[in-house]
Amino acid sequence: MHQAGLNKVAIITGATGGIGAAFARTLSSAGYALVLNAPSTEKLCALREQLSGPCVAIAGNLRAESMPRTLLDSAIEHFGRCDVCFNNSGLLEAGSIESLDIERVCNMVRVNVEGAFRMAYTFLQHFAAQGRGHLVNTSFALTQRVQPAVGAYAATKYAVEALSEALRMELSQTEVLVSCVEPGMVRTGIRGQWRETHVEPIDSGETFEPAALARMMLSVLEPPKPFASMRHAEAGLAQV
Ligand SMILES: NC(=O)c1ccc[n+]([C@@H]2O[C@H](COP(=O)([O-])OP(=O)(O)OC[C@H]3O[C@@H](n4cnc5c(N)ncnc54)[C@H](OP(=O)(O)O)[C@@H]3O)[C@@H](O)[C@H]2O)c1
Repeated sequence: MHQAGLNKVAIITGATGGIGAAFARTLSSAGYALVLNAPSTEKLCALREQLSGPCVAIAGNLRAESMPRTLLDSAIEHFGRCDVCFNNSGLLEAGSIESLDIERVCNMVRVNVEGAFRMAYTFLQHFAAQGRGHLVNTSFALTQRVQPAVGAYAATKYAVEALSEALRMELSQTEVLVSCVEPGMVRTGIRGQWRETHVEPIDSGETFEPAALARMMLSVLEPPKPFASMRHAEAGLAQV
């Protein structure tokens, strides 16, 4: 594969999940050095075995306030720089009003919103100070089609989209890029969580394989030549 990301460094949260792991494999093959985060040391080690390039794994929960700084410091310590933050960790809690456990919903909000916001601000402050960098947040295409029983999950993704759009505007005169990927249904573990709730999955048409999504996401980081000079004001909000 063409080593598009040679000498670049990317951080991936939720790296042991379907989308995060596929993107880790794609970026590693493209020449990126990686800092990977997820709660499970075991799963991170298994993923590291599959990667061809340099990689550091930091196990830990994104609910920990210090985690974003730990990940950034690790990239600087091991690789001397950080170019990309893929803000991808996420949980899904779905169910009817009668069945939802509010503590589980609040835990989802802490990971999907607070964790994502802390990552976004920590990395954007670093990118703004160094004058370049790319933050990629993860939303959900179906936030445009909210349905009963997944309102709280959709609300967390609306929050990420609103933040992404505002940050993109705020940084539009700089070389710091903010993107928000909005996948449709992707074949990952999160779909199992959905099934457990006995809520009918949203019929979104095609279901993507994580590897196919990862290839599309690489083009957000490394746009094909004719688009490479487009200002991110036009290219910033990506729906894949
Ligand atoms: N799959 C879809 O159809 C779809 C569609 C649109 C958007 N998305 C979004 O894409 C992102 C990735 O989802 P996925 O489909 O790849 O789901 P997944 O396979 O369930 O992966 C989720 C990842 O987040 C990690 N994670 C969970 N709680 C965490 C915490 N407290 N701190 C740090 N990491 C935590 C998981 O770790 P463990 O492996 O240890 O659980 C896993 O690595 C999510 O934000 C999701 O909302 C998914």
